Formats: sequence, C-alpha cells, structure tokens
Amino acid sequence: MNDFEFHNPTKIIFGKEKENLIGQVLKNDGIKKVLFVYGQSSIKKTGLYDRVVKSLKENGIDFVEHGGVKPNPVLSHTREGVEKAKRENVDAILSVGGGSVLDEGKAIAVGAKSDKDVWEFFKGEPITDALPNYTILTLAATGSEMNGYAVVTNEETQEKLSISSILIYPKVSILNPQLTFTVSPQYQAYAAVDAIAHTIEWYFTCSICPNLQNRLVESIVKTVMETTEKIIQNPTDYDARAEFMWAATLALNGITRTGYAGGIYVNHMIAHSLGALYDLPHGACLSIVIPAWMWWYKDKNRNQFERFAKEIFGLSNPEDGIKALKKWFKKVGAPVALQDANIPSSDIDKIANHVYNTTAKMWGLDKIYTVDKLKEILYLALRSNIE
Ligand code: NZQ
Ligand code: ZN
Repeated sequence: MNDFEFHNPTKIIFGKEKENLIGQVLKNDGIKKVLFVYGQSSIKKTGLYDRVVKSLKENGIDFVEHGGVKPNPVLSHTREGVEKAKRENVDAILSVGGGSVLDEGKAIAVGAKSDKDVWEFFKGEPITDALPNYTILTLAATGSEMNGYAVVTNEETQEKLSISSILIYPKVSILNPQLTFTVSPQYQAYAAVDAIAHTIEWYFTCSICPNLQNRLVESIVKTVMETTEKIIQNPTDYDARAEFMWAATLALNGITRTGYAGGIYVNHMIAHSLGALYDLPHGACLSIVIPAWMWWYKDKNRNQFERFAKEIFGLSNPEDGIKALKKWFKKVGAPVALQDANIPSSDIDKIANHVYNTTAKMWGLDKIYTVDKLKEILYLALRSNIE
C-alpha cells in the first residue's frame, strides 16, 4: 500500500426527488444569489428546470441564468459566464446538467474570483480562490459531481485542458437517479466507457497495486457493465440507474486511487486531443483509444492485465481480456476504431503531435509518450489491428 492523503469535501444527497431540496440546501448555507448554469435543452424538456426554479423561489434564492452550455464546454461561453457572475455579484454557482455543465460551472467559479482571464488557470496559473459551487446531476459519467476537476475546450486554439483544485469540489451535489431516465442509450454507452476508464487508468499503470484497490476497481467495472446492459433494455430501471450513478461517482472521486502508486491518465491524455480536434463525445474518444493503448501496454504490467481478463471476463490471458472489453464497447454502441468516428488514418500524425504538444507536455508525460510511441498506439486504433 502506498502512502496517501485523501480529502473529499463534497456532500452527496442521493435519492428520488431530492432535487427539490436545492433551495433549502442553498439557504442553509447562507447563499442569497446564484448563477444558474445549464445545458442546451434537456432540463427544460424534462421539467427539471421548473422544479429547480420553484425550489429557489420558495426559499428566497435569487438567480441569474447561464444556459446553453455545449457538450465539451467551450471557453467563449465560459468567459461569458464569468462576466455574468461578476456583473451580477452572485455568491455561488448552481450547475444543473451533465459533466459539461458542471465543469463549466466550476471554471466560472474560479474566473469569477479573479482579475485574470479564466484560461490562464487552464495553462497552469495556481487557483487560490473560487465561488462555492453546487450541482444537480442529470447524466452520470464523469464524476465531476464529487471531484475537483473541470475540463474546457479553447475553440480558437483547439486545446482541451483541465484545472484541478480542492476549491472547486462541489459543496453539495444532488444525485437523483430518476433524472437520468432520459439519457439516451448512446450517451449511456459513452458514460459507461468513461466510468470504466476512470478506474482502469490507474489499475493498469500502477507500480504498487493493493488488492483492496484492485477489487474496488473490479467491482465498479462489473457494476457499470451489468447496469448498463439493464439500462439499455429498460431506461427507467431505477435500481440499475442508481447503482450506475453511484459507481460513476466512485470511479473518479479519489477513492479508487488511494494506495496505488505510479498511476497516470494516459488514455484521457490521448482522448482529450480527439475531443479537441473532432469535437467527439468524451466517452467515444476513450472507447477508440482504450483497446489500442491496452494492447500496446499489456506486457509492461502483465499481472494487472491477467487479473483484469480473469476477474472481469473469466478469461485466462490478457489478450483475450482486451478483445472482450473491445467487443463489449462495440456491443453497447461505442466506437472502437478511428474509422468508426470518420477519422482517416492519414490524421494519425496530426493527432500524435497534438497529444504530444498539449496534454503530454502539461502532464509531464512527454518523456514516455513521444510522438513515435503515440503513433504506434494510434495505429492500433485502426479497424482490424486488434482482432
Ligand atoms: O445540453 P443538454 O441539453 O443538457 O444535453 C446533454 C448533452 O447533449 C445531454 N443530457 C444531459 N443530461 C441528460 C441529457 N439528455 C437527456 N436526459 C438527461 N438527463 O447529454 C449530452 C452530453 O452531456 P455532457 O454533459 O456533455 O456529457 P458528460 O457528462 O459525459 O460530460 C462530458 C464532459 O466532461 C468532461 C469531458 O471531457 C467532457 O467535456 N470530463 C470531466 C471530468 C471531470 N470533471 O472530472 C472527467 C472526465 O474524464 C471528462 O474529461
Ligand atoms: Zn473521463
């Protein structure tokens, strides 16, 4: 077991109809005015918008709206939110939506407390202050509801970068699985890939790999797979939605990483470039990258790959385990090759250079993941190269 510090300050309120508590939650914390951040249209279609507004009004919470957050949130819209939060002098952010909405809300929380342009924090400026942020989650996938990360795309420079700080963990996140009943089977597949990715990144790259952590990861992966199949069959299966939702939160709230040594988020590093260059859903970027990276890396930590094949699929060798995961991604409807997302093989050079010059350098992984190695991985992401 490696040494660690674990501190997760987010309070979770989980269960049916709990979104109606939002006004009371804010009032209890002395919040008087919020920036109400939401996405394109889903919360209005489902009626959630009306319920949130009712709860805010009943509890005397004033609010200013910042709707229209895009999937893969963009810097220009984030900057508009920062301006609004400053101009209106709000004392908290309330984000209602999926990971994109939550992430933009967190970035606004940082920008609103600074004279610097918000993008500077994504380029490495230390975060020293942020407005408190509160969330109601409508799409379980990213874990943003209980972590200190936010990812935003600068659409001018085509960079998809992240910030990380204890100051942007949500104060309170409300998780009602019923709110996810309307998530489409396609997004459910992407969500499943993302939650699996969050746990297996460290599981496969660890140098100290305690059994407790391995079993936590395997439990999350199995739960995600089992519940996703049930959800695709029956989108209003409450228990499946509930177990999936909590599994996705646990996958990236820090708990699965404690005690591991040596882990890195290499698949995310590559996936963020695919997201930045092609504006694909995050989970779809990951399902293309993961089988290719696993194949490329399997002999560097073979024990973990053997374990994965056996525990998740009952198979005896790593290669079969990787093929089985790829097959499962495909079965639930996620792309598993660059061509599935209409990315031609001639783009591999461009993608490898993009990964190397953006996230690889920022995350200090450029010494291991050189352009040539990234190209090797991306070649394995071409159709039929792992069959
Ligand atoms: O915009 P609306 O109309 O709300 O529609 C959204 C969007 O089109 C829709 N949706 C959300 N809840 C719904 C719903 N549709 C029907 N019913 C509901 N209940 O789903 C679409 C996708 O939403 P989005 O928020 O983009 O998805 P997700 O939660 O997967 O978030 C993806 C973003 O999070 C980042 C990704 O890079 C990407 O930008 N990530 C954030 C992380 C974090 N903060 O810790 C970690 C992750 O690794 C990831 O990088
Ligand atoms: Zn992710």
